[in-house]
Amino acid sequence: LENFVANSGGNASSPLQYGLMFEDINHSGDGGIYAELIRNRAFQGSDVFPSSLTGWGASKGATLSLDTKSPLSAALPTSVRIIAGDTGVVSLVNEGWWGIDVKPQIYTGSFYVKGAYEGQFVTSLQSTTTGSTLALTNITSRSVADAWTQHNFTLNPTSAASDTNNTFSIAYDAAGADDPLNFNLISLFPQTYNNRPNGMRIDLMNVLKDMAPSFLRFPGGNNLEGNDPPHRWRWNETIGPLVNRPGRPGVWDYENTDGLGLVEYLWWCQDLNMEPILDIWAGFYLGGPVISEAELEPYVRDVLNELEFIMGDASTEYGGLRASLGYPEPIMQIKYVEIGNEDNLGGGLPSYQGYRFAAFYDAIKEKYPDMNVIASTVDITLPGDAMGDYHTYSNPDALVSQFNQFDHSTSEHKTLVSEYANIQLNATQQPRIPFPNWVGTVAEAVYLIGLERNSHATLGAAYAPLFQNLNSYQWTPDLISFTADPSQTVLSTSYEQIKLFSNSRFTTTLPVTTTTPFGPAYFVAGKNEATNSYFLKAAVFDRQNPTAAADVPFTIIFEGVEAGASATLTVLNTTSPEAMNMPGGEQVVRRDVSTLTAEEDGRLSFRLPGLSVALLEVKV
Ligand code: AHR
Repeated sequence: LENFVANSGGNASSPLQYGLMFEDINHSGDGGIYAELIRNRAFQGSDVFPSSLTGWGASKGATLSLDTKSPLSAALPTSVRIIAGDTGVVSLVNEGWWGIDVKPQIYTGSFYVKGAYEGQFVTSLQSTTTGSTLALTNITSRSVADAWTQHNFTLNPTSAASDTNNTFSIAYDAAGADDPLNFNLISLFPQTYNNRPNGMRIDLMNVLKDMAPSFLRFPGGNNLEGNDPPHRWRWNETIGPLVNRPGRPGVWDYENTDGLGLVEYLWWCQDLNMEPILDIWAGFYLGGPVISEAELEPYVRDVLNELEFIMGDASTEYGGLRASLGYPEPIMQIKYVEIGNEDNLGGGLPSYQGYRFAAFYDAIKEKYPDMNVIASTVDITLPGDAMGDYHTYSNPDALVSQFNQFDHSTSEHKTLVSEYANIQLNATQQPRIPFPNWVGTVAEAVYLIGLERNSHATLGAAYAPLFQNLNSYQWTPDLISFTADPSQTVLSTSYEQIKLFSNSRFTTTLPVTTTTPFGPAYFVAGKNEATNSYFLKAAVFDRQNPTAAADVPFTIIFEGVEAGASATLTVLNTTSPEAMNMPGGEQVVRRDVSTLTAEEDGRLSFRLPGLSVALLEVKV
């Protein structure tokens, strides 16, 4: 294969080429990247998922029940009531999100209590495995009979627990206390990424950072939509003090706390230098109900309010609301808004095409003419400079066959692919794979190369879903799997591939003249003008023989690269096509890095193994 890469004449690359898509699915938020360690901290419930005592227990002799007669706030009406009986010391115990990671660091916590108590509350972290106390703090009670009183504390373990089989508890001496006492909003955070209050797990943020993502689409996904009225995601119920956040029934079989709310999402974007793609509710519930044209206006106004909350100055109504919560300055500029989620599905298309998309688009563009507004589908006629979002959950062959999806696009309307994944093997009726596998990862790479070649038509791509808590999940495969124990995190084969491509960004693609058509080698060439690098991104996938592709000899000449120039070739490969990175398993992706020297005419020659993904970089 002989290829000549011209030094100009390509397309400007999208700065958003590789990004993230996030919704609370698979306990990716609550019990996931949102660092709160206490499960079911405020007994939040709904008509869909009633309040429960999940995660909680008590010491022998004490009895726990849910109490709705002593609301902590309008948002948090249910608390836990402890009847001590004739027990001495009573403990209220939380098992965390399937364990608690305890290591030497400062943990910051708080709880509300109601009921007279003169004595000490003892907060502690305990190892279930060894029975030992890992950290303990005494707090003098200020609790009184008829009001809720917040108590703050820190816990400072001096050594790491042997595993994550640990609990948190609050203990008190029943002899000095009313019986019952009520507790609510019991919270404990480890250190968080960038020390944000109410922040994110450091280890999971670090693995995202290593991917160098350039956008975050949030908060859905189906979870944005809600199954039925009134359970859509509401931005204004996810802001401010936790005591004012009611939570909501997510669509993925668990109640959401909304502790990870609008402001926290934007901090996440700031912390990882990502462009927010703010997804807004578009008048359609996943279960079918649609808002009529006559009734849509308040929902459109709600989006403008949300944007004003984020970007308006403090003199505006919603900028003022933001300032009252402690953020006088606009949080960040929103440049991308997506209207709804997969409105081509579930019967939503006629109303979306008919009036819903236009209502949001027109109102947003009127107030923010430069805003990039993205439709949640490509199946409608897009107005003005609107973009579309295309999703594909597919098999290896189908992904590879979409390599040229955008080759002939002359559309003014760019496409975002904010959800893609290989989810099964080729043959029909195949079950979902549990984790990304190598043959699927290479097919995804082919698809991504197709998108990157066509930067004139595409905005960027994100694998979905992003996260999976291995203790409770609704969807496989996922990009990153985790538990409470950071050492058990599984970075999938697809994660390794995205990391390779995403960390080598083009500012422009470069035209390639080639001797052979694409397949089994698929590739894109480009350069980064800021770093003076030329790149080739390639994947080898043989559609005739996907699991046993042969090596491909490859020769490439970059115009402007002279003899003697040094190049770095990174090849990702594995021993078995269906290999997966799995919990407790070996890393199946082999990463071979070699240095090449350009020959006489600047020619670089190498072999790409069958079923591999590669990156060639030449710095000039
Ligand atoms: O990523 C999982 C789900 O797949 C998303 O919530 C939805 O948008 C898509 O159907």
